[in-house]
Amino acid sequence: MRTDSPQTIFRKDYTPPSYLVHTVELGFDLDPARTIVANRVTLSRNPASKSKDLVLHGEEIDLVALRMNGKTLAPGQYVLGSHTLTIPKAPAEVTLEIETLCAPELNTTLSGLYVSNGSFYTQCEAEGFRRITYFPDRPDVMAKYTVMLRADKQRYPVLLSNGNLLEQGDLDGGRHYAKWEDPFKKPSYLFALVAARLVCQEETYTLKSGREVLLQVWVEEGNLDKTDYAMQSLKNSIRWDEERFGLELDLDRFMIVAVGDFNMGAMENKGLNIFNTKFVLANPRVATDIDYAGIEAVVGHEYFHNWTGNRVTCRDWFQLSLKEGLTVFRDQEFSADMIGTASGRAVTRIDQVRTLRQAQFPEDAGPMAHPVRPDSFVEINNFYTVTVYEKGAEVVRMYQTLLGREGFRKGMDLYFQRHDEQAVQCDDFRAAMADANGRDLAQFERWYSQAGTPVVTASTRYDAAAQTYDITLSQRCPDTPGQTGKLPFHIPVAVGLLGADGKDMALALDGEVVGATTAVLELKEAEQTFRFTSVREQPVPSILRDFSAPVVLEYPYTDAELLHLFRYDSDAVNRWEAGQRLAMARLLKLTAAVAQGATLALDDTFIAAQRAVLVDETLDAAFRELALVLPSETIIAEQMEVVDPHAIHAARQFMRRTIARELAPELLAQYQANQTPGPYSPDAQSAGKRGLKNLALAYLLIDPGSAELKLAQRQFEQATNMTDRAAALSALIHSGEDVRASLQSFYDDFAGEALVVDKWFAMQGAAPNTDVAAVRKLMQHPAFTLKNPNRARSLLFSFCNANPSQFHAKDGSAYDFWAEHVIALDALNPQVAARLARSMDRWRRYAPALQDQMRAALERVARAAPLSNDVMEVVSKALA
Ligand code: PHE
Ligand code: ZN
Repeated sequence: MRTDSPQTIFRKDYTPPSYLVHTVELGFDLDPARTIVANRVTLSRNPASKSKDLVLHGEEIDLVALRMNGKTLAPGQYVLGSHTLTIPKAPAEVTLEIETLCAPELNTTLSGLYVSNGSFYTQCEAEGFRRITYFPDRPDVMAKYTVMLRADKQRYPVLLSNGNLLEQGDLDGGRHYAKWEDPFKKPSYLFALVAARLVCQEETYTLKSGREVLLQVWVEEGNLDKTDYAMQSLKNSIRWDEERFGLELDLDRFMIVAVGDFNMGAMENKGLNIFNTKFVLANPRVATDIDYAGIEAVVGHEYFHNWTGNRVTCRDWFQLSLKEGLTVFRDQEFSADMIGTASGRAVTRIDQVRTLRQAQFPEDAGPMAHPVRPDSFVEINNFYTVTVYEKGAEVVRMYQTLLGREGFRKGMDLYFQRHDEQAVQCDDFRAAMADANGRDLAQFERWYSQAGTPVVTASTRYDAAAQTYDITLSQRCPDTPGQTGKLPFHIPVAVGLLGADGKDMALALDGEVVGATTAVLELKEAEQTFRFTSVREQPVPSILRDFSAPVVLEYPYTDAELLHLFRYDSDAVNRWEAGQRLAMARLLKLTAAVAQGATLALDDTFIAAQRAVLVDETLDAAFRELALVLPSETIIAEQMEVVDPHAIHAARQFMRRTIARELAPELLAQYQANQTPGPYSPDAQSAGKRGLKNLALAYLLIDPGSAELKLAQRQFEQATNMTDRAAALSALIHSGEDVRASLQSFYDDFAGEALVVDKWFAMQGAAPNTDVAAVRKLMQHPAFTLKNPNRARSLLFSFCNANPSQFHAKDGSAYDFWAEHVIALDALNPQVAARLARSMDRWRRYAPALQDQMRAALERVARAAPLSNDVMEVVSKALA
């Protein structure tokens, strides 16, 4: 909780630590009510610092004893602040012995040492280690750790920490111990311990070098039937990092532990990754295709951090994207390579584009907009954002687009050569990329320093006589809080030209043969013209292929051109994009028509294009599904000056209904044709089929009283996997029929599976017929609790973020609900509360009647006391 007024921390104020740590020996006497932590740490004065004050961080811990170089420090020899312990004018070489107390069972923040389902877990990123012991808790202080754990043997039979197990044994009084040593230097945020009643799936795995390593996936007893996929994903990750980047696992032992109470997805603690159960547990009965894909991605992500994050870490938290953007990029490439086909790769890319538009572009245009490398923050936990992660990954991807795969690999190699076991900055990564390739990437720095989504405007001119085709690209970037007058970015714009036959033209730029059917134009000025030569006919340009930069592209495409691209573009991302543009133009017109009370109509051309894709058997099912999913209500809202969520909802529903009616026979045929009989497999091909089939089912159930209700009912009852069962239930819920019996039977079947109960809440929270009264009623359900982040997210976040037509109820009742629960959550878990607080980010774009009520709700939260720094930062920036 906030004790003094929140302070803004600035990147420009960075100073090196006054002391560096060599070794840390930690002793834990674990007890839920009263854990004793003994910390013996050796430090030396840092020659790079002018200060002789030894500053340690500490929060919510009680100091019991403090000795320096063997002598107890008298109260006058140190200063105990609310969040620091300072020893002024400390000697050059220091050994500190610090004993503190904490109460893990009272820790509801899930940061530091806490209890989940009766066992102990830690979470130290970003600043949780200071909730365990006094320490210079900053990532540029790297040290070697030895850890002794002591706990009751019956209740906590498994004692884990980073690195290698040195010894274990029994103690008096039914207790036991385990001693661990991490051979690598690490920052404190990578420390972890687990003391729990768990079981594991384990395996010895042989690295390419021939060295054998022990892999373990630890879960609660009843979940041992759900660890196979995580283990398989871990082995795939190890192999992939060896092959693609020449990076080997540096430990003899690598552990994954699943915990039910966790704020984020997972955490890359050295050798001891701790995961939200959501990203470990899967079997066909309880997990969907999306869950399986999530597990593969997150297991990969955390494993890849071992090099990008752990071996080379961040100098300070402003550099967070150095590890996160790079590691997201790596996990994206891993997932794409696991599918293996070009079309599968494109499907993963389209998913990434959707996430950016759904979440990152709005963030970049809202009150919390910040550069990939922020300049300031109040609470670092608020900066684990889609900008730092996903836009950061786009920035890394652009290096690869500019330098090629080989050039990118050279840059990575140089990065590790220069910076292994160091804490560095985003600039160091950029320098490695530039130096390894002899390239000037100075201007590329603006991707790190300037917030906001750049807009690239294209115009074209074909000269039939000269056979030239000019593409003029110009760029601008809107102002963001605290940043005006942006300078031009270095933007790779991948372009192909389609002929009337739908085929890619051979390309030449200013007379030089490109040698590929896609050219990467490097836009560096405010405006530049690129000339394609020997262009025999007027082409249709396919611009920003593979989404080569995280920008908004404006080009006055005609419907005819878009239809051409939608039918022929060899670049699957732009093929999909053409369909999205066709849909968006119509959705915006329909939204305006709804608002004006005009009659709604949808043209046959659009329907025909949708039909053509739906039945095109040469296309992957997964691609066809993506092509048929209309832009979300959130993405439509982002295109409007003044957002009318009800009109958007009505317009989109009208379009879906019309498509459903016009394409009913084809949808039914696809439903039948894409069944996946036989045992469930999460592979991309099968998942794609299920995706298309279930999209068809959802369409078939849109019309009230649909004749296909029984189809969904049958699928719901007979499904042999969760993907099909949940999709059927969701379609039933969205049909608007009375589905209480189905909901009840689903709940009864899966009441013991927390992650499935989360789905049950989430489906209802996001259904357009769930109003705020219904959500309040669901919160009365015995299975609901605000204390578990997954559960809180399942209902509250799905309602506030994924159900816009109800969240924006005209009477403002859902805004009151939001305020009430941001405040309630804040008392338990500020990090989760601050995420919920972000639901109001875009409030200024709504019609005045809604805006006033949203402001009132924000003000209500801002006035609440006490309020965490986390929530205070979000609401005060929203109101600013
Ligand atoms: N570093 C984690 C990841 O991205 C995320 C995380 C941040 C987890 C903070 C917990 C707390 O892999
Ligand atoms: Zn990460």
